[in-house]
Amino acid sequence: ASTSQNAFYSPSLLLLSLFLLVSLFSGPLPVSSARCHKDDKKALLAVKSGLGNPYDLIAWTSDYPCCDWAGVSCDSATGRVTSLDISGTNSSATIPTSVADLPFLQSLTFHKNANLTGPIPSAIATLTRLTFLRLDWNGLSGPVPAFLARLTALDYLNLAFNQFSGSIPPSLGSLPLEFLRLDRNRLTGPIPSSLSRSSLTYLYLSHNGLTGSIPQSFANAQFEVLDLSRNQLAGDASLLFGTSKPLQVLDLSRNQFEFDFSAVEFPENMTALDLNHNQVYGSIPPEITQREWQLLNVSYNRLCGQIPTGGNLGRFDEYSFFHNKCLCGPPLAPCK
Ligand SMILES: *[C@@H]1O[C@H](CO)[C@@H](O)[C@H](O)[C@H]1NC(C)=O
Ligand SMILES: *[C@@H]1O[C@H](CO)[C@@H](O)[C@H](O)[C@H]1NC(C)=O
Ligand SMILES: *[C@@H]1O[C@H](CO)[C@@H](O)[C@H](O)[C@H]1NC(C)=O
Ligand SMILES: *[C@@H]1O[C@H](CO)[C@@H](O)[C@H](O)[C@H]1NC(C)=O
Repeated sequence: ASTSQNAFYSPSLLLLSLFLLVSLFSGPLPVSSARCHKDDKKALLAVKSGLGNPYDLIAWTSDYPCCDWAGVSCDSATGRVTSLDISGTNSSATIPTSVADLPFLQSLTFHKNANLTGPIPSAIATLTRLTFLRLDWNGLSGPVPAFLARLTALDYLNLAFNQFSGSIPPSLGSLPLEFLRLDRNRLTGPIPSSLSRSSLTYLYLSHNGLTGSIPQSFANAQFEVLDLSRNQLAGDASLLFGTSKPLQVLDLSRNQFEFDFSAVEFPENMTALDLNHNQVYGSIPPEITQREWQLLNVSYNRLCGQIPTGGNLGRFDEYSFFHNKCLCGPPLAPCK
C-alpha cells in the first residue's frame, strides 16, 4: 500500500497528470492563432489608435490575445474577429476606416460615444458579412449613406440618436432588414416606398423632419412596431389599419395626419396606439373596446361623438382623449 501511495505522489506522474489536465482544458492546437489572428490584431490596434487611444480601451494590449479584448468576439475555429462593440468611450474622433480591415465582421457596434463625430466612412460598405450594424447614441452626422445598401446581409440597422441629415436613401429598401431605426436625427424628405418590404418588422423614424405622406405600399407592409411620431407627415394614415395586419404598436403622434377614424379596423394584436396632435376626424369605432390596450392616446385631434365604454378602456383618463372637437362621455364631460 505504501509503495502505491509513493507512486501516486511521484513527481513524474504529477507532471503527466498536470499535462493531461492542461491539454484537456486548452483544446486542440494551435491555441494562440485561434485566439487572435494577426491581421485582425493589427486592425484592432489601428482602430484603437484611430479613436485616440481612449481610456476605455486601455486593456487592448499585446498582453492578452485580441479575441479576449473587451468588446471583441471571434470565431473560435478561425480566430477571426466577427464582432466589435465600442460603447461608452469618450473618444472624440471619427469612426476609424481601419474597422473595414476586419473583413470577417458580422456585427459592428459604436454606441453611446457622445463625442464620436463625422460621417459613416464609406469603407464600411466593404464589410459585406455584416448582419448587425448599430451606430446609435453618438454624435455622427452627414447623410444616411446610400452605400449601406451594399451590405446585402444586413438585417439590423440602428442609426438613432445622432445628427444625420438629408433624406432616407430608397436603396435601404433592397436590404433584408428586419429592424431599422433612424429616429432622433435631422432627416428630411419623404419616406421611401421601398421600406415596405415584408421582412421589415420594426421601423422607427420618429423625431426627424420627414415630410409627405405615408407611401401607399405601406398598406401591404408587415410591421409589428411602427413609430413615425414627431415629423411633419401629412395625409391619410388609415391604410396602416386592418384586422389581419400584424401591427402591435403604432405611434403617429405629433404630425399632420388627417383621416376618418370612424372607418378604421384595429389590427388584431394591436396594444398601443398614439395619435396625439394630428387632425384625425370622425368618431371612435366601438370595436376599440375589443383590444387589450397598454397605451391609447387620441388627444389633440378633431374627433367627435361618444367615447365607447367597455374592455380595458376605463384605465385611460381624460388626458388620452382631451382637446378634440367634440368627444364626450367618460372620462370626459357627459355628452349633451
Ligand atoms: C465630450 O467632449 C466635451 C468637450 O471636450 C467634454 O466636456 C465631455 O465630457 C465629453 N463627453 C464625453 C461623454 O466624453
Ligand atoms: C477620457 O476619460 C479619461 C478617464 O476618465 C480621462 O483621463 C481623459 O482625460 C478623458 N478624455 C477626454 C478627451 O475627455
Ligand atoms: C397575433 O398574435 C398571434 C399570437 O402570437 C399570432 O399567432 C397571430 O399570427 C398574430 N396575428 C397577426 C395578424 O399577425
Ligand atoms: C396623451 O398625449 C397628450 C399630448 O401629448 C399628453 O398630454 C398626455 O399625457 C398623453 N396621455 C397618455 C395617457 O399618454
